[in-house]
Order: sequence, then structure tokens, then C-alpha cells
Amino acid sequence: MTGKGIVKIVTDIPGPKSRQLYSENEQNVPRGVGHQTPIAVSSAKGATVTDVDGNTYFDFAGGIGVLNVGHRADEVVRAIKEQADKYLHVCFHVLIYESYIRLANKLNTITPGQFPKKTLLLNSGAEAVENAIKIAKYYTKRYGVLSFLEGFHGRTALAMSLTGQIQPYKSNFGPSVPWVYHLPFAYCYRCPFGQTYPSCEVVCARYMERIFESEISADAIAALIVEPVQGEGGFIVPPKEFFPELRRICNEHGIVFIDDEIQTGFARTGKLFAAEHFSIEPDMVLTAKSLGGGMIISAVTGKAEIMEAPHVGGLGGTYGGHPLSCQASLATIDIIERDNLAGRADSIGKKLKEALYAMQERYPIIGDVRGLGAMVAVELVKDRATKEPAPKETAQIRVKCYQNGLIMLSAGIHHNVMRILVPLVITDEELEEALSILEEAFKSI
Ligand SMILES: Cc1ncc(COP(=O)(O)O)c(C=O)c1O
Repeated sequence: MTGKGIVKIVTDIPGPKSRQLYSENEQNVPRGVGHQTPIAVSSAKGATVTDVDGNTYFDFAGGIGVLNVGHRADEVVRAIKEQADKYLHVCFHVLIYESYIRLANKLNTITPGQFPKKTLLLNSGAEAVENAIKIAKYYTKRYGVLSFLEGFHGRTALAMSLTGQIQPYKSNFGPSVPWVYHLPFAYCYRCPFGQTYPSCEVVCARYMERIFESEISADAIAALIVEPVQGEGGFIVPPKEFFPELRRICNEHGIVFIDDEIQTGFARTGKLFAAEHFSIEPDMVLTAKSLGGGMIISAVTGKAEIMEAPHVGGLGGTYGGHPLSCQASLATIDIIERDNLAGRADSIGKKLKEALYAMQERYPIIGDVRGLGAMVAVELVKDRATKEPAPKETAQIRVKCYQNGLIMLSAGIHHNVMRILVPLVITDEELEEALSILEEAFKSI
């Protein structure tokens, strides 16, 4: 399980059935498909998971941000079953169906931006990223793309090129797609310019203009793609001036602004979409993960004028907007709106931050506590003054957590961030119990 430069993650398989399955996994599945825990699931509901040996865990991972409405939400399961009784697959290029069109209409309505929109449905986040760039290139007749250091946009060739993290995503996978340029993100805890906010005047946002002078001219850039809060990068929240400044520069040069909400979307940050926190209107919004409530779906929603650029037959795919996934998504969005999960994310986030700030006072290893809504993380360091990253200890804490019944994820370019993507249906009692497991793990290090 050890990758180059990556700490060993999986230790102690939790029981005989898990051990057996894990060994069969090693024999049959390539090691490149890494694992954050050795837990083999048997069932899951709400914010908890049970493994094949009968152990139960609080789930702070939510399938990596997929389960904002929780595991097996009743309405989602019902919608899938009802659809399965009618038809499974017909391919939207062959026969149209209502759920695809209703979901496109819903996304056109709820995504940020007061202008006519259209939506293309696909399967994975990476596929949404690929299609958004493809459409932006067609529309602008330009071929350059800007993305960010520490950013993550997926594992396909172009999405991997846009990603700003070498380990484990890019190393040894060959040259990037050409004409992709990475900009510094507003990572204030480790400012790439060695400055401090607000006296820095958010200099990072204007770095794009340096690239236009030295690397590629602005009129060759089709699109800028950015996560409003960097997810895999370690839940990095930029200051409020960052996005308006990026938007201003994009407007000035006719660059399509693509907002990758694949991890931040659907109430996670306390608003339906994180861009709403920064008062910007992106030209395109990408969604996946919690859009499907556990089913496989992604979407590109954008200004109608941009989305209409490609010719008939230039977009799509066999499974894009699968009927089971469309019905699951419609049920998911209903739950999010009906139960005000954005409000719930806000209150979960406040509880998490309060508990984590208190832990920061007790455990010097916690260098930074940050996040937006219920997208909260801690960055672990060996020394608060030098900020030397603590990846080994991060992995040890994660192991301690699952041994005691809490599934945690790590993130960050230095593999030293513990992030929380708990289902937003967790109860206050469950949350408190889970946090006490986390505290025990910090205590043990
Ligand atoms: C912000 C962001 N973009 C894109 C992706 C890629 O999505 P997928 O794994 O579904 O291809 C991810 C996945 O973690 C993500 O967090």
C-alpha cells in the first residue's frame, strides 16, 4: 500500500471477514486503487456504516462528499426502485425521458447566475470537467486553460493535467495535456508569496496577469477552472476578495469562468453552492458527488450561449444522465431544499469548529482549523512555528479513529490535513460522540 512519498495508510484490518476480503482485493484489484481505510462495508444508513464483521462506525467521509443527504435516504431509494420498475437504460441520444429534462431544468434554476442556462448530464466529476473545457474551447475558439496549484479536478488525462498535486495523482503518468497553466491559490496558512492577509491585498489573485505577460497571452485562454474551496487540496478557503478579482480579470479578457462545485456543492458549505458565499456568477458550474445522493451522475450547467456553441452530436455519451441517477438526483435536491440542509450544514460547521478550536488549544499538533459550513478540516504540523507538515501522525490519527469507530479522510498536498465531509443528516448526539472519538485519537499521539 505504500506509494512513493505517501505514508502507509492501511494497517490493522478490523476482523476476519474484512481480512479475507482485503486479501482477495489485493489479489484481484490493482494497488493503484488506494484505500483510506481497510473497512469492508456490509450496510449503511444515515451517518453510520456497518462492516462485514459487525463493527459500526460514524462516517465522516460520506463516500468523499457524495452523501450530503446521508446513506440510503428513504426518498432516494424509493425513487430508484420506482424507476427500476419502468425502464433502466435507453440512452438519451436514442429516446428522451422526462427525468433528464426535469433535472436539467432544476439545475438551470438553482445554480448561481441570473441568466438563461442549459445543462448537460454526464457520469463522473472528471467527465463534467472534460466537457466543460471542451465546450469553453469551442465557444471561445481558444485553447489555453488556467487552473490552480493544489487544486483537484479528477483523474482522466485533461482533468489530471488541470490538477495541481503531483502525489498521488500525476506522478509517473507522463506529460500533461499542453496549454494548461497553474496559478497560485489563496492558501493563506502557507502563503505562496510569504505574505499575510489582508496586508497582502490578495496579490495571488492578480498573478494571472503575470502569466499573460510571460507564458501565454490572455486572448489564447479559453477558460479558468477553480474550486471555490479546494477539496483534495485540504479545504482551503480563500479570502472574500479572491474570486471577485479572478472574475474581474476573466471578464476583461473574455475567459470563461468555470466553478468546480463537485465537492463543495449541494449545501455542504452552508449554501446550496459555495460560489454564493463570494457573490460571483460563474459562466459554468460543475456538479457531481452529492448531486446524486449516492448515484452516479455529474452535470455541466452554463450560460445558454456558451452551452449552445458545440454542434449537434458534439456532446454526450452512452450513460450520461442515466434514468436511475436522474430520479435519485431529483429526490436528493428535494430533500436538501425541504429539510434546509444548507442551514443544517451551517450549524454542524459551527459545532465542528467550536470543538476543533478547543482541541487546538489542547493539542499542539493542530496547526490550523478552517472551513466553510460543514466542510471543515484541521491541518496537522510538527511545530506550529515552522509549520512542518505531520503526514505520519495524520495517518496514525486516522487509524486510531477507525479503530474506535470513526471514519476520517485525509487530504492536502502534504497529506497532513484531516477533513470532514459528514452526511448532513447526522444528529447532534452522533456528532458529539464522533468528536469524542476524534479527541481520543489526538490524545493518543
Ligand atoms: C473538486 C473536484 N472536481 C472533480 C473531481 C473528480 O470527480 P470524480 O472522482 O467523480 O471523477 C473531484 C473528486 O474528488 C473533486 O473533488
